[in-house]
Amino acid sequence: MTPLHHLRAGIIGTGFIGPVHIEALKRLGVTVNGICGSTKSARQVGNQWGIPEIYGDYDHEAMYASPNIDVVHITSPNKVHVEQCLQALEMGKHVICEKPLGMTTKDTQLVVDAVRKGGKKGPVFAVNYMCRFFPAILQMRAMVARGDLGKIIHVQGHFFQDWLLHETDYNWRILASEGGKLRAVGDVGTHWIDAVSFVLGAKAQSVFAHVETFYKTRKRPKGEVKTFAKVDPKKMVDYKVDTEDFGSVLLKFGKAKHGFADGVHANASISQVAAGWKCSLSFGIYGTKGSVRWDLQQPNEITLGRRDEPNQILQRGTPGFLEDVANYTDYPPGHAEGFSDAHKMHYRAVYEHIASGKQTPVLFATAEDGHHEIKLCEAMLESTEKGAWVRV
Ligand SMILES: NC(=O)c1ccc[n+]([C@@H]2O[C@H](COP(=O)([O-])OP(=O)(O)OC[C@H]3O[C@@H](n4cnc5c(N)ncnc54)[C@H](O)[C@@H]3O)[C@@H](O)[C@H]2O)c1
Repeated sequence: MTPLHHLRAGIIGTGFIGPVHIEALKRLGVTVNGICGSTKSARQVGNQWGIPEIYGDYDHEAMYASPNIDVVHITSPNKVHVEQCLQALEMGKHVICEKPLGMTTKDTQLVVDAVRKGGKKGPVFAVNYMCRFFPAILQMRAMVARGDLGKIIHVQGHFFQDWLLHETDYNWRILASEGGKLRAVGDVGTHWIDAVSFVLGAKAQSVFAHVETFYKTRKRPKGEVKTFAKVDPKKMVDYKVDTEDFGSVLLKFGKAKHGFADGVHANASISQVAAGWKCSLSFGIYGTKGSVRWDLQQPNEITLGRRDEPNQILQRGTPGFLEDVANYTDYPPGHAEGFSDAHKMHYRAVYEHIASGKQTPVLFATAEDGHHEIKLCEAMLESTEKGAWVRV
């Protein structure tokens, strides 16, 4: 494994996911030199993690000017991603940007162009669709590409959460102006589509979607709220909701790289108001020889389905699993790896790509991949309005 401590990171955003990045980087041995956010929270998070350079007042440009930062992690809300990406690339910083890459394809195209402009010698750019780095996802991808499941017929699954179930649940994502016009689908649905595309080795080309807003108005607190934080309902005001709570999505995939998953049909249900589900990204890939099923809430196991033989549970770290995920799993069987490990493995892949001078395979989501997800979001909105299939 390549030592990564010579690469120095700077983090923008101190909410829920920023510290997840910091913890993962520290576990990889990467030096975290900078933190940027509101003055109070940047100081708090910086002190907690022993980060020497603290940039308050959301002054990411000051952080970009630091000669002690090589890689920038953008973990701020969606509406500032593109601007922060473009400036980082301009300054020659490598970037890991949180998903979704931006709110419109007009904007995300600018990031694609800027990365292309950098060329072979330019900065490395990744979008944090880190679910690709669950060992189970890498394993299923290898099984599909080898033809273990035969020709893939269809894919079915969901991404269900319940953290926005009550009308008093509030987060900036509920406002289209802050997070983008599609919320449940843009926020977690794109994780599902990216993971399935990665496993199939193909991109979705057409969509038929129907999205719905159950709560036409909700109640919100005055001021900023960290993701998953609880707020006193007595200190709230009514507001109109302009993003969806849930959606049903049909997808038609294009040609796969290996010939085992051409033109696959997929369907997914996406919801942030599904009581009982916390963070369930789940799908089954069904082929002519067998199927695989996985759920992020039980990330260490895959169910292998057969018609004429008994089904099997494949466990991470045991035979039949290990060889395809080498370098992206650290603990022995039975010692569970999960959400924070997938972040760690993603950053390992990106940092090793940087350290190798772009010689390692690009398994992570690129600017083009992030841009494609936003194209799909726009197509899903159009499809909902027209009640028809939309080609991307
Ligand atoms: N990959 C994943 O699994 C995953 C999980 C959660 C969130 N995310 C993504 O991460 C991003 C942040 O989500 P979150 O849940 O941490 O939100 P959050 O609201 O908890 O935190 C956002 C942080 O950004 C800060 N911020 C606001 N405006 C800023 C600006 N202009 N410059 C710098 N910082 C600013 C806020 O003060 C806050 O600290 C979103 O894009 C979200 O989609 C990804």
